[in-house]
Amino acid sequence: MSVTQLRASTASSTPRRVTSDTLLQKKLARQPIVALTAYDYPTARLVDAAGIDMVLVGDSLGMVVLGYENTLPVTMDEMLHHTRAVTRGVSQAFLVADMPYGSYHGPLREAVRNGLRFVKEAGAQAVKIEGGSARAKLVQRLTEAEVPVVGHIGLTPQSVHSMGGYRVQGTSVEAYERLSADARALEEAGAIAIVLEGIPRELGASITQQSGIPTIGIGAGPECDGQILVFHDLFNLTFRAPAKFTRQYADGAAFFATALSQYRDDVAGRIFPSDAESYHLPREVHAALEAASPRARKA
Ligand code: KIV
Repeated sequence: MSVTQLRASTASSTPRRVTSDTLLQKKLARQPIVALTAYDYPTARLVDAAGIDMVLVGDSLGMVVLGYENTLPVTMDEMLHHTRAVTRGVSQAFLVADMPYGSYHGPLREAVRNGLRFVKEAGAQAVKIEGGSARAKLVQRLTEAEVPVVGHIGLTPQSVHSMGGYRVQGTSVEAYERLSADARALEEAGAIAIVLEGIPRELGASITQQSGIPTIGIGAGPECDGQILVFHDLFNLTFRAPAKFTRQYADGAAFFATALSQYRDDVAGRIFPSDAESYHLPREVHAALEAASPRARKA
């Protein structure tokens, strides 16, 4: 970007793009950071227009959009495809893409190459990876490659099998201390923020207080610097029992079901489409066709 472009963008009246620094400033000013997932162009448009600070293209899309049993089968291609769609719909929010299971668990070089693809090919501003101290080296390498990283610790859904199910984490003294150390390790490695999922409120508050980077909670209590939820949980669109930490803001399933049965009845009863919803021939073409029809000739 040239200096001229820089001046032009700062002088513009449109709201500025949220960056990792905006998130940090919010933490320092004790202003809650509002984050939400989005997985496609229309939801990205809606979430961005609502003034949400951070949009995550979560690998939860495997469950809520693609219908998988858990997030493990989600591929790089699926994540890149959905991230591109969200990128086209977001102009203000900070855009983070989840790295899917298996894309960062092998050699570091391969993990960094996969991380870079989200920024270079899909337009993400940062990637999110699950795991604590064990990921510190990778966080450092991605950061060195100019790929900002959001960490994710606590109940990490990609560890569903090693955790023995989706269980609240950090409930023993050892686990509490391990997660506190994980948060420190991620920050020291260069992470720009950390998602805290499924941990006791007290631990969420303690990590948030000790951390120099923003914490974004999901089932981690109200003291976190921000909160994130899955879009489909807000709108009752998951077709699963909701977790304790979610809150339903509207019944999207009921809304769609009502509209769908009305549409079905309208088509079945020939109420849709109406004449006003139909195209018509130009008057003179209609008249010419009438005049030329065998019925008209007979008369
Ligand atoms: O995949 C996801 O949606 C997530 C969050 C909800 C934090 O990881």
